[in-house]
Amino acid sequence: MEEQIKMIKQTSEKEIASAKELKALEDLRVKYLGKKGELTAVLRGMKDLTPEQRPVIGSLVNEVRDELEKQIREKEAKLKQELLNKKIESEKIDITLPSTKVRRGSLHPVTRIIEDMEDLFVSMGYDVVQGPELETDEFCFERLNLPKGHPARDMQDSFYITDEYLLRTQTSSVQARTMIANTEKTPIRMITCGKTYRREDDATHSHQFNQIEGLVVDKKERNVSLADLKGTLEVFVRKIIGANLDLRFRPSYFPFTEPSYEVDVTCFKCGGKGCNLCKQTGWIELLGAGMVHPNVLKMNGYNPDEFGGFAFGTGIDRLAMFRYGITDMRYLYTNDVRFLNQFDRKDEE
Ligand code: PHE
Repeated sequence: MEEQIKMIKQTSEKEIASAKELKALEDLRVKYLGKKGELTAVLRGMKDLTPEQRPVIGSLVNEVRDELEKQIREKEAKLKQELLNKKIESEKIDITLPSTKVRRGSLHPVTRIIEDMEDLFVSMGYDVVQGPELETDEFCFERLNLPKGHPARDMQDSFYITDEYLLRTQTSSVQARTMIANTEKTPIRMITCGKTYRREDDATHSHQFNQIEGLVVDKKERNVSLADLKGTLEVFVRKIIGANLDLRFRPSYFPFTEPSYEVDVTCFKCGGKGCNLCKQTGWIELLGAGMVHPNVLKMNGYNPDEFGGFAFGTGIDRLAMFRYGITDMRYLYTNDVRFLNQFDRKDEE
């Protein structure tokens, strides 16, 4: 019987050592130590032994059982660890791999300039207002001192929808709208940005473009003057386009301002020395501006004896071209991502 127990120990130890899976190990436990297992069977045969042999065999069986249980436990721990290692290995993340790039869009250069200008003018106490793109002849022209048949209408070839309605040719229409809407007739400081439309199309003109308009109307005693206009435009140009730029006021004509000016800015390409872009003058035409015409104040409910102010307007697309050195305005509208991608980080640089 002792021999039999030793045999069981030997073979079971071998089998335990070579078990490759937890399931196989469990089967071995049942085979040797289970209720119907081989070692248990030996114990059952004890009844045939002599009283002297019983304790000897009994303790031998117990010893072997303890030993096998221990080996099974150890083997089980080892297999579990192996399994875990395999899992860790297979689920490992290689953090040295480059990540998949999330492709982010960026703001259009025109939008960037609008946001910058709104921030700037709000910081100077201006309101940001809006007006319709489909405008009436009345607000686009008549209330700006451009009655029907006025020759200056020819400067703005328009898209008429009906005799009365057109796509606005200038954001100046919002000047009249703001003055009319302000029924209390309190002072006004506003800018407006938006789309405008004219019948023209080349490298520096598009049939649809964007303008920014500014209007200041204040009590006469506050004495809003050309100096204020010049100071305001200087801040505007230096913040939005370039810190080293200078302005030049050239007398000009707009029906809704008197006196009127075309405002030029130092050529951003040559810095004022003269080049092909500025046609050797050192200056580039940028804005229209002037003191609000008394007729415009009167037509929109402000008494010109009590109120005065200034107005200015310019093309945002032109500002974008100057700020970013874009040579053809049409790039702004062709939605080529190779063009648009270039503005991702340009402002932060
Ligand atoms: N609206 C004018 C234009 O489009 C610009 C302008 C605005 C001029 C305000 C004077 C005052 O040409």
